[in-house]
Amino acid sequence: MSKLIEVKNVSLKSDTNTRVRDINISINIGDHIALVGKSGSGKTTLLNIINGSLRPTTGEVTLNGKDIRECSDNKMRKIGSLWQDLRLIEELTVGQNINCGALGRRSFGWAIANLFGLIEHRECLKCLNAVGLSNNIVNMNIEKLSSGQKKRVAIARLLRQECDLIVADEPFSNLDPTLITTILKILLREQIDKSLSSAQSCIVSLHRPELIDKFNRVIGLKDGRIVVDSDSLSVSKGEISNLYC
Ligand SMILES: Nc1ncnc2c1ncn2[C@@H]1O[C@H](COP(=O)(O)OP(=O)(O)OP(=O)(O)O)[C@@H](O)[C@H]1O
Ligand SMILES: [Mg+2]
Repeated sequence: MSKLIEVKNVSLKSDTNTRVRDINISINIGDHIALVGKSGSGKTTLLNIINGSLRPTTGEVTLNGKDIRECSDNKMRKIGSLWQDLRLIEELTVGQNINCGALGRRSFGWAIANLFGLIEHRECLKCLNAVGLSNNIVNMNIEKLSSGQKKRVAIARLLRQECDLIVADEPFSNLDPTLITTILKILLREQIDKSLSSAQSCIVSLHRPELIDKFNRVIGLKDGRIVVDSDSLSVSKGEISNLYC
């Protein structure tokens, strides 16, 4: 299997605590990973180390074999993040926000044109429709959307980014069951317009152990350490409940 990311002997210590320690993981193309563990176990810290927004104090992370500290912005664009706070730009419309996903592949002039109005309509609408939202919200301001709609716009922006790996921090929090199913299917590429080059791999933190078996792999953290890393179908209920005690 082809390795996309390798996390090697990674720890992150702050003055007062160790947030994650001795982490070793390989993420392969096609992996759909559920990242679980109780509050404070290190899930967000690990996701932020993988997407390069946090630097570990020891160890290294590689993307396609290269240390991510040496990867260009263009290479790092292959890792797309769904942040807990979504990081949408309130001053821009839905369509302009979605287009922001393509910024890394476009020129400075293109970025300026996107600030003045919606461009590349067709590509933008394709991503909007892929997350189950209709064309008539494309010119709406972000502040007018419900929280579930905002989350889907952030996912549409990820589709526009054409990344290889999606790193998603608690994408299912505060969503109704129908929306959880919709978003899960997009992340797992079960319900996606085949002409979109959506990510083949994902690592997703969640607080819903009942969703683990939808993923093909589960990683469990306890006190900043990996204590489970296995095929999600072979992990036992005992191993999962041990994470929460
Ligand atoms: N900015 C920070 N500086 C220092 N320590 C931090 C910081 N953010 C988090 N921590 C600590 O790092 C550890 C891991 O936190 P983290 O946010 O990664 O956990 P989590 O598993 O994502 O929790 P939750 O499920 O509540 O989101 C915790 O002990 C936490 O207190
Ligand atoms: Mg967290």
